[in-house]
Amino acid sequence: MTTEPCFALRGDLLDFTADPGFAAPAGAQGVRYRPDHWLLVEGGRVAGVQAAEPDAGWTRVDHRGCLVMPGFVDTHVHSPQLDVIASFGTELLEWLNTYTFPAERRYVDPQVAVAGAERFLDALLAHGTTSAVVFPTVHKVSVEALFAGAERRGMRLVAGKVLMDRHAPDGLRDDVHQAERDCLDLIQRWHGRGRLAYALTVRFAPTSTSAQMNMAAALMAAHPGTYMQTHVAENRDEVRWVAELFPQARSYLDVYQRHGLLNERAVLAHGVWLDDEDRVLLRESGAQIAHSPSSNLFLGSGLFDWLGAEGQGANVTLATDVGGGTSLSMIRTLADAYKVQALRGVKLTAYKALYGATRGAARALHLADEIGSFDTGCHADVAVWDWAATPLMQHRVDLAETLHERLFAWMTLGDERLLRAAYVAGTQRYRRA
Ligand code: GUN
Ligand code: ZN
Repeated sequence: MTTEPCFALRGDLLDFTADPGFAAPAGAQGVRYRPDHWLLVEGGRVAGVQAAEPDAGWTRVDHRGCLVMPGFVDTHVHSPQLDVIASFGTELLEWLNTYTFPAERRYVDPQVAVAGAERFLDALLAHGTTSAVVFPTVHKVSVEALFAGAERRGMRLVAGKVLMDRHAPDGLRDDVHQAERDCLDLIQRWHGRGRLAYALTVRFAPTSTSAQMNMAAALMAAHPGTYMQTHVAENRDEVRWVAELFPQARSYLDVYQRHGLLNERAVLAHGVWLDDEDRVLLRESGAQIAHSPSSNLFLGSGLFDWLGAEGQGANVTLATDVGGGTSLSMIRTLADAYKVQALRGVKLTAYKALYGATRGAARALHLADEIGSFDTGCHADVAVWDWAATPLMQHRVDLAETLHERLFAWMTLGDERLLRAAYVAGTQRYRRA
C-alpha cells in the first residue's frame, strides 16, 4: 500500500512515441493524441491511460477540455540570470562582461543563492517546465541551493558548479584544485540522489584552462552517469577568440573533443557556427546541441542549422538559455524556433517542436524511461494547459480544422498564462490562482 499520489486526471492527452522529424504535419509519425482520456497516476508514476471513466476507487482530477502534456524539459538554462534577463544592447562577450558576470558574483552570498534558486525553481514550474539542465554559478553554495530546492520539489534536475579558472573577473574565478575538491564534494553529496544528477560544467572554452578541462573530463570518467554541460560556437567573435586560444584545435567543438569532454551525456548549448565535421563528431560522440532560439535572436548570435545538424545525425534539443533567452516559457521558445527555421527556409512543425521539448530531450539525456512521455512507469511530471489565454487566441484555435493547426496556433500564440497546473512525480507543485 503506497501513500504516494494516486489519482486519475482527465483531459486531452498529448505526448509522442517517436520523433516526428521534419515531415509535413499530415504525414507525421509518433504523435499520440488521446482527447478526453484519463491519465492514471499511482505512486507518483504513470500507471496507464484509458478512455473509460475509472472506477470509484480512483480520486478524479477533472481537467476536461485542457491540453495535458508531459512537463517540459529545458536542456539549457542559467538559474542566476533571471537577474539580468532582458538587458539591452550587447552581443555575447560584452553581455557577459557588462551584465552577467557582475550579477553572478552576488551568488557567493548564501542568502542570495538560496533566494535565487527558490525563485528560479518556482518560476520553472509556473512555466510548465518540470525538468532542466541548469548552470548555477561558480560558487558551491549556488549549486547546493539549487539541488536542495529541486529535491524538495521532487524535480529531475541536472546541474553542477560552473568551472572558470581564467578570463573571468575577481569573485568568479576558481582554480583547478579548489574546483576539483568542490566538484568531488558535490558529486558525492548530490549525484544520483533522488532525481538529481551532477554535470561537470565548463562554462565555455575561453574561461577554462586545458588543465581544468582535463580535470573535468577525469571526474566525468570516474563518476558514471554524470553529465557535461557547456557552450559551443554561439557567436562569431567568441569563435574567433577560441581559435586564438586553442590554435592547435581544428574547431571550437574539437577543443572539447581534445580534452575528453564529448560523450553521450554532453549537453552543448547553441552550436550556431559548426561545420559538417563538427556535426559528424556530435553524432559519433552522442553529444547533443541544446538549441536556444530565443537567446540566439536576442543576442544576435545567428540562425541555427537544425536540418544540417540532424542530417549528420546529431541530437538536437530545445532550451530557453535564460538570461540570454528572454523567457522561461518553452512555448515561447518553440515559437522562436519556428521563426529561426523560417529564416532558413525550413518549416518546423508543432509536432517536431513539442517532441524536442519533451520526449526528444528525455531521449537525448538518456532519461526516456523517467520523463518526457506518458509511457507507463514514467514519473507523472504533468502540465495542464488551457487551449487559449485570451478571447483572440480562443477565436483562432477554435477555427483550426486539424490537430496540427490547433497545436501550431497554440504554440505560436501561447505562453505561461496558459498553464493551469503542474505536477511533479504526481504531486501538484503549481496551480494558477
Ligand atoms: N557563453 C558563456 N557563458 C554564457 C552564458 O552565460 N550565456 C550564453 N548565452 N552564452 C555563454
Ligand atoms: Zn547559456
